[in-house]
Amino acid sequence: MSWKAIGIFDSGVGGLTVLKEIIKSLPQEDTLYLGDTARVPYGTKSPETVTRYAMEITTFLVNRDIKLLIAACNTVSAVSLEALKQRFSLPIVGVIEPGARRAASVTKTGKVGVIGTEGTIRSSAYTKAIKRINPEIEVITRACPLFVPLAEEGWIDNDVARLTAEIYLRGLKNDGVDTLVLGCTHYPILRETIATTMGEGVQLVDSAEETARTVAEILRNSCMIRPPAERGNHHYFVTDVPAGFLKVGNRFLGETLHDVHQVVLEKEGCVAQ
Ligand code: DGL
Repeated sequence: MSWKAIGIFDSGVGGLTVLKEIIKSLPQEDTLYLGDTARVPYGTKSPETVTRYAMEITTFLVNRDIKLLIAACNTVSAVSLEALKQRFSLPIVGVIEPGARRAASVTKTGKVGVIGTEGTIRSSAYTKAIKRINPEIEVITRACPLFVPLAEEGWIDNDVARLTAEIYLRGLKNDGVDTLVLGCTHYPILRETIATTMGEGVQLVDSAEETARTVAEILRNSCMIRPPAERGNHHYFVTDVPAGFLKVGNRFLGETLHDVHQVVLEKEGCVAQ
C-alpha cells in the first residue's frame, strides 16, 4: 500500500520548527515542505496578499497528492485558513487553534500574553480563539516583528536579542501574564532569551507540539496514519535559491537538511497569470 505525504508550508524557514515536531511524533510519515523564501516575510503583508500566496502554495502541494496540509505559519493561519478550507477539500490544520487550546489549558491566573507578527496580532485570531475556549481569559498581545530577522540571523542570545526582548516584553511582564504564546514560527528559536526575559513562573506555549498532536489525531481518526514501523522521507521545496534556506534551516530543524529543490510556482501552473 502506498501512503500519501503530509504537506506543510510556511513563508520561509520558520515552519521547520513545526516540521521538527511532526517528525518527532510521526516519524513514519513522508512530508513535503514548501518555504516561500522568495516572498518572505508574510507578517507585514496584507491579508489579501498572504491569502493569494497561501492558495498558490496549497495548489502546488495538492498537485503532489498530499493527504493533509499544515499551514505552519501563524500569519497564514490567522488570515487565510478559512479561505483555504473553502477552496480545498483535504484536511487543513493551522497553528493558531492548537496554540490557543494549549494556552487556555495551562494558564492558572487567566492572563495570557500572545506575541506574533504584525499581521497575526492585527487579526486578533489568537484572542478570538482563546476566548472561544474560555471567554473569561484576559488576552494581552504584542507584535514583535524584529524577532523574525534576529532568528534568521542566528542572533538569538546576544545583547541585541536580549535588549529587543526586554523592550518588546516589558509590558506583558508588567501586566502579569502567567502564560505566553509564541505566536510566530520563528520565536521558538529565541525561546531561551524570551523565557529569561519573562522570568520564572511564565509558561511559554509553542504551537508546534500541539499542532503535531492535532495532526496525529486527525490521521488516526481517518485511518490515514502510516504503520509506525515505517520510516518517512522528507522533501523540501523553496521559491528562492536554496542557499539561505539550507544555512538557517539546519538550525530551525535541528538536523541537516537534504533534498532541497527550488521551484517556480508560475511554471508549475499554481499562479493566476
Ligand atoms: N512564518 C511567519 C509566522 O509564523 C513569520 C515570518 C513571516 O513574517 O513571514 O507568522
